[in-house]
Amino acid sequence: MSKKLYIETVGCQMNVLDSELVVGALRRQGYELTHEATDADVILFNTCSVRQHAEDKIYSALGRLRAHKRRHPDKVLGVLGCMAQKDKEWILHRAPHVDIVCGTGQLARLPELIAAVQQTHTPQLALSLDRKEASRIEVERSFESYDPLRDPSMRPSPFQAYVRIMIGCDKFCTYCIVPSVRGPEQSRPPEHIAAEVRQLAAEGCKEVTLLGQTVNSYEYQYADGRRERLSDLLLRIHDTPGLERIKFITNFPRDMSDDLLDAVRHLPKVCEYLHVPAQSGCNDVLKRMKRLYTVEFYRDMLQRCRERVPGVAISSDFIVGFCGETEASFQRTCDLVREAGFKNSFIFKYSPRPGTKADELFADDVPEEIKKRRNNDLLAIQNRVSLADHRRRIGQTVEVLVEGLSKTELKASGGRPSSGDSGPKQLTGRTMTDHIVVFEGHERLIGQTVQVRIEEATALTLFGTVVTNERIGVEADRLPQVSSFSLHGTNRRVNLPLI
Ligand code: SAH
Ligand code: SF4
Ligand code: F3S
Repeated sequence: MSKKLYIETVGCQMNVLDSELVVGALRRQGYELTHEATDADVILFNTCSVRQHAEDKIYSALGRLRAHKRRHPDKVLGVLGCMAQKDKEWILHRAPHVDIVCGTGQLARLPELIAAVQQTHTPQLALSLDRKEASRIEVERSFESYDPLRDPSMRPSPFQAYVRIMIGCDKFCTYCIVPSVRGPEQSRPPEHIAAEVRQLAAEGCKEVTLLGQTVNSYEYQYADGRRERLSDLLLRIHDTPGLERIKFITNFPRDMSDDLLDAVRHLPKVCEYLHVPAQSGCNDVLKRMKRLYTVEFYRDMLQRCRERVPGVAISSDFIVGFCGETEASFQRTCDLVREAGFKNSFIFKYSPRPGTKADELFADDVPEEIKKRRNNDLLAIQNRVSLADHRRRIGQTVEVLVEGLSKTELKASGGRPSSGDSGPKQLTGRTMTDHIVVFEGHERLIGQTVQVRIEEATALTLFGTVVTNERIGVEADRLPQVSSFSLHGTNRRVNLPLI
């Protein structure tokens, strides 16, 4: 009988990628995935610490498994990722039935930790060093970039993949836990990234999304002093045979250099889409956040992006209710959102994170109801902007990489793509500018690039009809069958962040 593995993932794309790689590694050891935690021999939670809510969810899920674990002491329960690195052995105090606590920089050790629990029945901890605990080089070494060989069958979608190009973060925005839980910023060697992209493309992957917390700060330094930046890396991987699209997330406003924008403009496979979080439109707040730029700088940067990359779509993140955010500061953020023309924005209520500078230095002085109200207000403004942006696209024909069944269709089919050819379905995909498009077509279009004429729009979605595929010159519906697309039966395309 094969051993069964259950894994639940919260957090950002880094975590989605880590989970994919963990599943790949354990499959090679004979594990099979199950969708029921209580069916599994090994139950894993890949966790996030960016806001309190993300942690609470995991602690409640662990609590729900307490009785199950008491009845089945041989089952292995593991907590992986950011919360593991942050809470360390404290997790074993709060949830004594947990067997494994494994940080983001130690995932390669997971198979060995599982075996150790099975043999010794004692809890196993694998954690990286705290950033203040040792020299930079020692801390760096303790955070290992987890990039084992990819297992194509483990990718939620065979034609899309995340590729890590760097780990960690050195920006230390005062509200953010990521630099402590993901460690120092370290760029992966360009040759390794290029080889991974080649492997993925050879296996049928059409779109790669390069991942880094501040992806545009990527810089690899060779022993002889030569440096390679993100623009060089894009050029290096651009001509990979089979590859059609390249994206990269997330950008730090101060590092949005002209050479990068020129690469986006001139390299046809690079999507004209930039996620560049502003966080706030008020200079006082930005200063307390230690974002290292002013709103004037940010606005100039937006203009530079639009001038250098005509038609570029830009999205952002905002935190509302940060320490000391007055109504006037919030209004400045609203002004920025009204004027900046973001394709979309992710808006979060400030959540104090123990261990961060903001938590140490400033009072969390904006009441919850005001945070909630500001969140709703800002979202309403962004929705109006998104709707206007979407409406302008009505009548245009856009190129869409078909990603899977639409949410409505997935719900109707109980979360799984249907077997057999059962007529047209509602499909979803994205344009080169990352706009979501929903349209009707055969499931066999999944994984193909099709032309869609946009006919309707809401703030979140464009709706259209497939037109003759001009690039291939045949009716899009008669394109050859593609391989089955979904491992988990879910549509993997998720926006940052997932929680
Ligand atoms: N590295 C990325 C994003 C990291 S976390 C970047 O620098 O843009 C994703 C988003 O979560 C952030 O952009 C921020 O908007 C939000 N976030 C981070 N810490 C937070 C906190 N303590 N409370 C609320 N939102 C937070
Ligand atoms: Fe966090 Fe700032 Fe680093 Fe982004 S850039 S991960 S917000 S510290
Ligand atoms: Fe970690 Fe990503 Fe959350 S880096 S803290 S999983 S947003």
